[in-house]
Amino acid sequence: MLSSSDAIAAGHAVRGTTSPNPPVGCALYDDAGRLITTGGTEPAGGAHAEIVALRAAGDQARGATAVVTLEPCNHTGRTGPCSHALAEAGVARVVYLTADPNPLAVGGAQYLREQGVEVEFRPTEVADLQPWLTALELERPHVTVKYAASLDGFTAAPDGTSQWITGATAREAVHVDRTKRDAIIIGTGTALADNPSLTARKLDGSLYGNQPRRVVVGTREVPEGNLTQLGYEQYSTLDEALRALYDTGARDVLVEGGAGLLTSVLEADLADRIQAYLAPMLMGGGNGVVMRPLAETLASMPRFALENVQQLGEDLLINLKRKQN
Ligand SMILES: NC(=O)c1ccc[n+]([C@@H]2O[C@H](COP(=O)([O-])OP(=O)(O)OC[C@H]3O[C@@H](n4cnc5c(N)ncnc54)[C@H](OP(=O)(O)O)[C@@H]3O)[C@@H](O)[C@H]2O)c1
Repeated sequence: MLSSSDAIAAGHAVRGTTSPNPPVGCALYDDAGRLITTGGTEPAGGAHAEIVALRAAGDQARGATAVVTLEPCNHTGRTGPCSHALAEAGVARVVYLTADPNPLAVGGAQYLREQGVEVEFRPTEVADLQPWLTALELERPHVTVKYAASLDGFTAAPDGTSQWITGATAREAVHVDRTKRDAIIIGTGTALADNPSLTARKLDGSLYGNQPRRVVVGTREVPEGNLTQLGYEQYSTLDEALRALYDTGARDVLVEGGAGLLTSVLEADLADRIQAYLAPMLMGGGNGVVMRPLAETLASMPRFALENVQQLGEDLLINLKRKQN
């Protein structure tokens, strides 16, 4: 049955591997609405989602309906225009879920209509495209702040112990999420205290195929340890880190702590999204999520919009996003 979910799933499958290009998904259906095939964007320089799907469909693309999470591009970059490829393959109808705001690529829907292809815009918020859209608008990577805390907002006990606040299901979700990001950023404080590897690992400890870049912010030297073995980038300021990451293709980054760095991110109004993993426990003291008040009075405190809440084993994942003015 023709639906948006096949294209969305195809885009989700390639998220984390396509930057600086968006993780787009495409699904092709026959006259009877049966799924022919799907495609997702290949790593930069490779084929776009539509081309991947058209290649897999071969002659079956003639007369088909294509559902695409982003309006087909209409420009020749490292690959040819997808709008032309869809029309040449004889696709009869194109449904797209997000209009392409990229001034360089826009115009695909218009071109397809001119070629006699039926085009429908079905506005849908495709979660996997949001970081890329934000990065395009702000010309810096989309920033998600992630932390694990007790219900009363502590990320470590008074003696500094913090492993593990959340249970295995939540920790597994964190590792899958890392595979979807271009980079993970921590402060030198966390690098020194935890000696983290910042890899995306499966339950058996083996590494996922896609690994984010590992980034440390701060001036202190990171001694020999997990990060130095695996390779990491260090920048002395947050701005420098985000600029360098953007300039080298990163569009979607995760800031994983600690409190010093999270405070800087929030004070600079750089948090586009927050992932709060909350464990069913109270601590009463210890290290807080942020180091100092973000404003003097309640009315001035930054607030975020609730996106959704997920239960992960016994823990909660609260997803928040920047409030639109
Ligand atoms: N539960 C959790 O989710 C979680 C996650 C991560 C960490 N933690 C815990 O947090 C603790 C570490 O926290 P922390 O606050 O000490 O460390 P941190 O936030 O990792 O690092 C603080 C350092 O980051 C650098 N920094 C921060 N903002 C900056 C900016 N705008 N520009 C440049 N540099 C900036 C500074 O480095 P320099 O001083 O070197 O210049 C600062 O001293 C550890 O105990 C760790 O276990 C908990």
